[in-house]
Amino acid sequence: MISISMKNVEKSFGKNNVLKGVTFETYEGEIFGLLGPSGSGKTTIINILTKQLAADSGKSFVAVKSEEIGLVLEYDGLWGNLSSLDNLVVFEDVYKIPHKRTLESLESVGLLCAKKTKADSLSKGMRQRLVLARATLHKPKILFLDEPTSALDPVTARGIYDLIRKLRDSGSTVFLTTHNMEEATNLCDRVIMLYDGRIIEQGAPNEICDKYNATKTLPDLEAVFVQLTGGGLQ
Ligand SMILES: Nc1ncnc2c1ncn2[C@@H]1O[C@H](COP(=O)(O)OP(=O)(O)O)[C@@H](O)[C@H]1O
Ligand SMILES: [Mg+2]
Repeated sequence: MISISMKNVEKSFGKNNVLKGVTFETYEGEIFGLLGPSGSGKTTIINILTKQLAADSGKSFVAVKSEEIGLVLEYDGLWGNLSSLDNLVVFEDVYKIPHKRTLESLESVGLLCAKKTKADSLSKGMRQRLVLARATLHKPKILFLDEPTSALDPVTARGIYDLIRKLRDSGSTVFLTTHNMEEATNLCDRVIMLYDGRIIEQGAPNEICDKYNATKTLPDLEAVFVQLTGGGLQ
């Protein structure tokens, strides 16, 4: 079942033509990675899919209601003076979430022991765990994560990968953006590569690796672009 799709989506900011006809589909139950260099339009795509921004043309589709979506943006929006638990409790009324579920959510990210710790006193990795707990309080069917590990060291990032896999295994579809090839290879079931406003490659990480090299690492985006276009398109 298709869970997210875009067809020929274009978006410009003034003269900056950021998306030049983006087309892709994702399927239920997969961890889907949108891979692209900084400034390539990844956040713009998430903003369009979550209806925070209108595309100039083309179609975009998300197969669930807006209240069944979870969203983690680059800015974490935690209240620094509130405890971990209270950062979640404030959403109990908004989403009609039982307190038991709030505790369960905190436990699922391994933060029950830090429930009384103020968000400002948490490590970066713990903060990101708390953000994931907040985004999944209402058990969203589709979870959008905008560069969920970009500010984390590799070991802490691996802990977040485990959590993301757990969410996928519990039935959520995960759509994440990253500029990190290794992350995409290790974590994603399928990836698309965004470069210069277009999707230049897509598939399972292993298939893409096989296509471009034998080292089982995803190729450099720039290298794929050069290989596909002879470097002549700009
Ligand atoms: N609200 C905006 N107004 C003007 N330009 C924007 C806006 N949002 C993004 N851009 C521009 O669009 C391009 C893509 O941005 P973005 O989607 O944030 O890229 P990424 O998330 O891949 O780093 C960048 O050149 C950025 O400066
Ligand atoms: Mg971004």
